[in-house]
Formats: sequence, structure tokens, C-alpha cells
Amino acid sequence: MNAEGRTRLDQLPEWHALSKHRDEFGLTHLRRLFEDDPQRAERYTVRVGDLHIDYSKNLVTDETLRLLRQLAEAAGVARLRDAMFEGEKINVTEDRAVLHTALRTPESATVRVDGENVMRKVHQVLIRMGTFAGRIREGHWRGHTGERIKNIVNIGIGGSDLGPKMAYEALRPYTRRDMTFRFVSNVDGADLHEAVRDLDPAETLFIVASKTFTTVETLTNAKAARAWLLAGLGGDSSAVAKHFVAVSTNAEKVAEFGINTDNMFEFWDWVGGRYSYDSAIGLSLMVAIGPECFGDMLAGFHLVDEHFRSAPFEANAPLLLGLLGIWYGNFHDAQSHAVLPYSHYLSQFTAYLQQLDMESNGKSTTREGGPVEWQTGPVVWGTPGTNGQHAYYQLLHQGTKMIPADLIGFADPVSELGELRDQHDLLMANLFAQGQALAFGKTAEEVRAEGVPEAQVPHRTFPGNRPTTTILASALTPSVLGQLVALYEHKVFVQGAIWDIDSFDQWGVELGKVLAKRLEPALTEGAPVPGLDASTRALVDRYRSLRGR
Ligand code: F6P
Repeated sequence: MNAEGRTRLDQLPEWHALSKHRDEFGLTHLRRLFEDDPQRAERYTVRVGDLHIDYSKNLVTDETLRLLRQLAEAAGVARLRDAMFEGEKINVTEDRAVLHTALRTPESATVRVDGENVMRKVHQVLIRMGTFAGRIREGHWRGHTGERIKNIVNIGIGGSDLGPKMAYEALRPYTRRDMTFRFVSNVDGADLHEAVRDLDPAETLFIVASKTFTTVETLTNAKAARAWLLAGLGGDSSAVAKHFVAVSTNAEKVAEFGINTDNMFEFWDWVGGRYSYDSAIGLSLMVAIGPECFGDMLAGFHLVDEHFRSAPFEANAPLLLGLLGIWYGNFHDAQSHAVLPYSHYLSQFTAYLQQLDMESNGKSTTREGGPVEWQTGPVVWGTPGTNGQHAYYQLLHQGTKMIPADLIGFADPVSELGELRDQHDLLMANLFAQGQALAFGKTAEEVRAEGVPEAQVPHRTFPGNRPTTTILASALTPSVLGQLVALYEHKVFVQGAIWDIDSFDQWGVELGKVLAKRLEPALTEGAPVPGLDASTRALVDRYRSLRGR
């Protein structure tokens, strides 16, 4: 029991019940589970909005699911969920509310932070964003020399980059194809260089996106972008006003940087960076897809928010996905989770989820400050199918590790593919085949029956029993993308709530930032760094000598 009077997670009777169940259930094979229950596929499918989520190929029974739900109840998931939606300061270490859900809530609702209804300002910013996006798209916002803006470069990192970039890629068929959109994040100058080298500064607008407006990578790139712009436009610094806008919570720093705050789009400290792309951080996306599609995406988010908030535990999709992760991570020692989208447009989706999940739940301290004694967030990884099949799926099928995976696919390919649409059945056949092979494998008897020489039988046998969840939707529309992202956001929430960690802070990224700042003068000027370890010292010296310093 901790000081809050809360029993430690791994001392709850519900936790022990799951351990016992795991010992009894073992790794009962999915072949058997399906044989025993002809209704399994139907019974273990949950629908939310446009998402059809088949979790039947997971290593669970009704009893497993019942015990997992009991654990969620005992851990107070519903209480914390309601507190989040109500604007309570559940980000305890930063003393902040967690209200990304307000960003997609209709204006008529009331959502309070410190007694203030925030819905009005949320919608005011959306309207300003819509006006700005419209002016760019219609050619009314002109550059310094009167040219139409044809290129948008978003400069941001982490949550100020990954979300808009992922969604831009996901929704490419909905974007203005006559405009160019680029995303610059890395402090490696090569990123900015490659993003702007073929652009005309007169036609280029930069969106500097940073919640804090103190992030060194973003400010460094923004300064370099300003220099590139001014060099291309004859050095007149008044050009900045037509070519730079900012998205931030920090008006003071935006002004300090030299961007007029009239050209700033606001959001608030109760929106976490990795939960922010449906705020003004999505401005580049809104220019790309237009305010209407952006609104459809928000509606998709909201639909899943409402589902998460109100669906009973048995049919609550984010809760179920969260619990499945707990089952594998905490009771089967799974270390990672693969997200495998069978859509080229979702090429950035897993990278986006890495921040969402790993920055949220990569913690080892409880909300109260004690050490956690159980596994927390998994390593999230994956790339779009079918490419992964020809790279690392070998390990998924025959390796020694348990790696639960999500397979994501869509019934309709986008219409503009024309004749290439015919390839879609082959793509989806691969998705279904992988789920099937991972679950059911191929027995030695089946291999032998094919006449395979005995010496090769063990090599060509597939154990199966590798858990997957299949998420199928009709098409990758803006609304469906919103639904998918909200599904994962709330899944991460459920897990963090059970693990008793603060999913909304990110102290673990701070140390590296501080050390980099301290080391930089050693690299540039050879400045002494007191207390520097021998390995880092030698590396810095070697680096300096390679650079001829
Ligand atoms: O890496 C830490 C982090 O604070 C992320 O959480 C955030 O998304 C990113 O840096 C960028 O921060 P900002 O939007 O303040 O520039």
C-alpha cells in the first residue's frame, strides 16, 4: 500500500488472479481456442465508428478478458478517465490538466480548466486557422514580393512535427496537389537544406511550430530558415512577416524570436506535445487538406472520445487494446509491440505512435514517486506491409520473442490510383494471410504431408500462436484517421492508468538536452567540461581532430 492508501498494482488480488490464470492457461494454442468456439471471431470483434477491430487472434479467453477488466476496475481506470475529461490536473508532475479531447469537442459543450470554459477559445483558434488556411489556399495571402504561396515548410520536432507529418502523408489524396508541403525537424542542417533547396523563397511560407518555443532544434532551424529567406529576398527583414507564422503556447518567446504575434496561432498548456496535432499544431495539415477535411478528422477523434468515455468495459475498444497490451507485457514478458499498417499512406503512422506511446509510458516511477515494480510501456515499432514481410517478419513467425502486432488495413484504395487499384486485393490478401500464419502456423505434420525431407521439417514448421489484432476500415478518410489516432491515444491512457504512471510528462528527455548544451562549446571551441567522463572526452577530442580543430 502506498501513501495515498492505494494498494500496489502487483499486490492487488486482481493481479494475482491474472498471474494464476496465466499459469493455468499457459499458451493454449489459438488453433484450439478457435476449434472450441466457432463464434470466436464474431464474439471477439468490437466496432467503433468505422473501425472494425478483430481481436480474436489474441491469446485470451472470456476468463482472461474478465480478469483484465477487473484489474482495470481495481486500478481506477474509469475514475482517471473521467477526471481527464473533466479537466482535472491528472498530469501530476507538471500540475496540468490533460484536455486534448477538448480540441475536438463541439463548441456547444462545456469543458472547464480552472473554472474557465475553454470551448470558446478552442473554436476561435480553429476559425482563425480556417481563415488563414483559406487565404493561403485561395492565393489571397501573398509573399513579400507579391507571389502566391505555393510551399509550406513546417519547422518543429517531436509532437510539433510527427503528428502533422504523419497526417499529411496519411491524407495525401485529400491534399492540395498543386502545393508543396515539407516538414523539417532534425537539427542536422541536412534536413532544412533538403527541404528548401528546390524551393523559391518568394513562394515559401514557414510555420514554426513549438509548444514552448524554447526547443533548440526548432529555433536553430527557424533562424536558419529566416536567413535562407532573407538571402533569397534581398535581405529586407520586413519579408519575415509574410513568410513566417508561429504556433505556440508562448507568445512572449514568439515575439522575442521576431514573429509578430498577430501571426501566431495559440494552444494551451493542457495540450501535451504528443497529443497536439489536432490543435493549431495541425496548421500545416489544415492548409494541405482544407478546414472541412480537418473538421471531419476532428469529428472522427470525437467519436472515439465519446466511445471511450461511455462504452461499457466489455465493448470499449481502447480499453480492450490497452488490456491486451497489459496481458502480454506484464504476464507474458512481451517487450515490444509491432504496428503494421497495410497502407502506404500510413508510412509515418508507427513513427508517430512511437512518441505517443513511448514518451507517454516509458516511465519507471509511479505517480506518487515510488519505483514501479512491473513492466511499463513497450517498444513500439513497425513499418508498412508488405515491405516488412521481406525484412523482419521472419522473426515474428519463427523467432523466440513474443511480439504482439496490430495489422491495419482498408477495404477501399484511394480512387485516384486508377488501374493501380487492382493491386489492392493483393495487398489486403497479404494482411489477412499474415494474421492467419502468425496465429495458426504450420505443424510438422502439415509440413511432412507436403513431402518435405525430414531434416528440413523443423526449419519449415511455423509454431503459430503469435497474437495479432486486425483493424479494418472502409477507407483512410480524415475521419477514420482521427478515429485511429484517438483509439491509440486512449489505449496508451488505459495502460498508463493501470501502471500508475504519469503518461503526460516527459522528464526523461531533459538530461540529454542539458548535456548537449554543456558539450557544444567543447566541440566548437574545445572548452573544458568539468567532470566529463573519459569516453565522452576521447570522443569529443577525436571529433575535433577529424574536423581539423
Ligand atoms: O522531446 C520532448 C518534447 O518536449 C516533446 O514532448 C515535444 O513534443 C517536443 O519536445 C517538442 O517540443 P516543443 O513543441 O515545445 O518545441
